[in-house]
Amino acid sequence: MLKELINKKKAKVAVIGLGYVGLPLALEIARAGFKVIGVDLDQNRVNQINKGISFISDVDPQDLKFFISEKRITATSDYARLKLCDIIIICVPTPINVNKEPDLSAVVRCSQGISKYMRKEQLIILKSTTYPETTEKVVLPILKESGLKIGKDFFLAFCPERIDPGNKKFGVANTPTVVGGVTKNCTKTAVLFYRQFINTVFPVSSPRTAEMTKLLENTFRNVNIALVNEFAQLCERMGNIDIWEVINAAKTKPFGFMPFYPGPGVGGHCIPIDPYYLSWKAREYDFHTAFIELSARINEEMPYFVVNKIIDALGRSGQCSGRANILLLGMAFKKDIADLRHSPALKVFELIATRVKKVQYNDPYVPRINLNNKIIKSVALTPGLLKKVDAVVILTDHTKYDYDFIIKHSRLIIDTRNAVKKRSRKIIKLGLTQ
Ligand SMILES: NC(=O)c1ccc[n+]([C@@H]2O[C@H](COP(=O)([O-])OP(=O)(O)OC[C@H]3O[C@@H](n4cnc5c(N)ncnc54)[C@H](O)[C@@H]3O)[C@@H](O)[C@H]2O)c1
Repeated sequence: MLKELINKKKAKVAVIGLGYVGLPLALEIARAGFKVIGVDLDQNRVNQINKGISFISDVDPQDLKFFISEKRITATSDYARLKLCDIIIICVPTPINVNKEPDLSAVVRCSQGISKYMRKEQLIILKSTTYPETTEKVVLPILKESGLKIGKDFFLAFCPERIDPGNKKFGVANTPTVVGGVTKNCTKTAVLFYRQFINTVFPVSSPRTAEMTKLLENTFRNVNIALVNEFAQLCERMGNIDIWEVINAAKTKPFGFMPFYPGPGVGGHCIPIDPYYLSWKAREYDFHTAFIELSARINEEMPYFVVNKIIDALGRSGQCSGRANILLLGMAFKKDIADLRHSPALKVFELIATRVKKVQYNDPYVPRINLNNKIIKSVALTPGLLKKVDAVVILTDHTKYDYDFIIKHSRLIIDTRNAVKKRSRKIIKLGLTQ
């Protein structure tokens, strides 16, 4: 019966957690013709969505308004509405605590909420990134408390999220997705559902395989970024090799190489966090994930490395860092988006603020930041400001920036992203020594 509802697009879908993952997903499912109920504990967010207000750059407000006005998407904070749904997708946060251990409290709370209202013929999909075996050993036992039988009465699968915020080429529909169900029937049902709105669906033999796949993808990025950050540091030490030129040359190889770029560190909700989920789980098996630890060490060191570079650049240009006035450009963790989560730019701000007289920032996407409970506003990027500050530090290479304008008016530029293509004595780059 559920399969029939899916095929006819009559299945009602709940998306729990309407954030960077859940909201774009809800839209794509609605676009495919399904009715969607979005569930979020944040009442403010629920109210905004019901008014058609999008807080995520990947979600077009016009699209959201359309689906809300057509009642093809509604948002609620009431879990009891899950009774109405045939498919439930979990997109709640999976952060790490201060000791860098997994915090699955949102997934547990959400599973308990689902279990309370479960009925026969429901498909539940976990999308939140987590360590292998979470679906089978954390979520499944909670859902079984409903008294229903897995693979017969209800279906459960893990389907990792691959969204890349700000990516204009790959969105929900054209990014292939991996699906691993607890039983064969679970996989089949989840695959059938995903095929309704995702072009390529790749089934795997179990949820733990799908969970591990996601962690391999993100750890791969983390390790390669660390590798290139280490190369950047070596190039600086050697003093006569430009890392950016090296990467451009290496990427001409048409096979066996993929370019990664150095920067002030890694950010976002995935790359700095997900590997810790795996290293935590590995310890249960007396296994130490050396690559994860090593890359964390290098990447987490980068904001400190950048701050030392700023202080050094000020000294070389004859300025006393203790009296310096610094302008940071870009606070988001990557270009052309507003996402500040785990942004290394925030760490640079915090560190440099203890070493110089004054720090300000500009980010066209981020009007204000909260740094240690202090609200700091983005300043306007004027010729006057650029001339006044002792150094401008490019931390995020937003496309919106007019780099010629910045070069023209600034006295000293520290560029951590190779945003400025020109070379001159006043431009100091990460990964090469002038
Ligand atoms: N953001 C990304 O680029 C990305 C990419 C791949 C995977 N992921 C993973 O997807 C998951 C969600 O990430 P996100 O970036 O969308 O998070 P987010 O913080 O943007 O959104 C999560 C939403 O869930 C809500 N929420 C929290 N607990 C809840 C509960 N018990 N019931 C209902 N709603 C609840 C929050 O209010 C929030 O609106 C995480 O596991 C993350 O690791 C994120």
